[in-house]
Amino acid sequence: MTKNKKVFLNGEYIDADKANVSVMDRGFLFGDGIYEVIPVYQGSLFRFDAHLERLENSLNLTRIENPYSRDEWREIMLPLIDATKDQYIYFQVTRGAAEKRDHAFPIGVKPTVFMMCNDIAPFNDKEKGVKAISVEDNRWSACNIKAIALLGNILLRQQAVENDCAEAILVREGYVTEGSASNVFAVIDGILITPPKNNFILAGITRDVILELAAANNIPCAEDIISLDALKMANEIWFASSTREILPVIELDGQPVANGQVGQLWHQMNNLLQAYKMTYATSEK
Ligand SMILES: Cc1ncc(COP(=O)(O)O)c(C=O)c1O
Repeated sequence: MTKNKKVFLNGEYIDADKANVSVMDRGFLFGDGIYEVIPVYQGSLFRFDAHLERLENSLNLTRIENPYSRDEWREIMLPLIDATKDQYIYFQVTRGAAEKRDHAFPIGVKPTVFMMCNDIAPFNDKEKGVKAISVEDNRWSACNIKAIALLGNILLRQQAVENDCAEAILVREGYVTEGSASNVFAVIDGILITPPKNNFILAGITRDVILELAAANNIPCAEDIISLDALKMANEIWFASSTREILPVIELDGQPVANGQVGQLWHQMNNLLQAYKMTYATSEK
């Protein structure tokens, strides 16, 4: 842990190594909480409102009280940010610490709010592409909630790592849902496709940005189902997430994706995204 790194916990900014949460916290006992991750480019919170909208949605679906307004959330974030680097804000809200361990919601308990800001680790050699495996998506059916309970995702990601892959592509009844911590895009017959938003995927903010950039730049795109069979024939496959942006996949289940080279559309979209991030950061200031 970086010495003197400040985090926010329940209304206070404190040193990370002094921040403590009760063992009775329902986040610790049950994974009863939700979270968000917002990239910060040159000090500006990327797509702040979209992330807050998703946070509000996760809180509504889990019936956890939202302790702050959007403006208050923003105010809390700002002192944690170092505008000289690319960073991300991680924050979570749990249902709080009750007196006893009981599945039912406790009464009169305040949510626990934790927030920290970390550097976005540069993903070197992104242009070289990564390997992926397909795995059965055995998670629950409320994946649209950004829940801190990530055991399902963790076990699937670990399967990828143990197979020398960067990410797992999750497949439910023969159709792609998403990655273990990302959304999936494929280029099939010249069309950029990503599975539609529903309760089996997390509605990624990066996913929305990519779809908007595609539409604005006359790149044919669609939100449509993708079978694993179709994915295996795709010209390009990408992962999309806030901290890894877009990551091209060059190998799926030990077989090359198309000719095994990073595709031309990925290069185009990556350039568009980098340009968009810069404009966004400057226009927000
Ligand atoms: C399961 C899952 N799907 C999709 C995403 C991508 O979401 P975003 O682009 O908002 O980071 C994430 C990000 O962590 C994720 O964990």
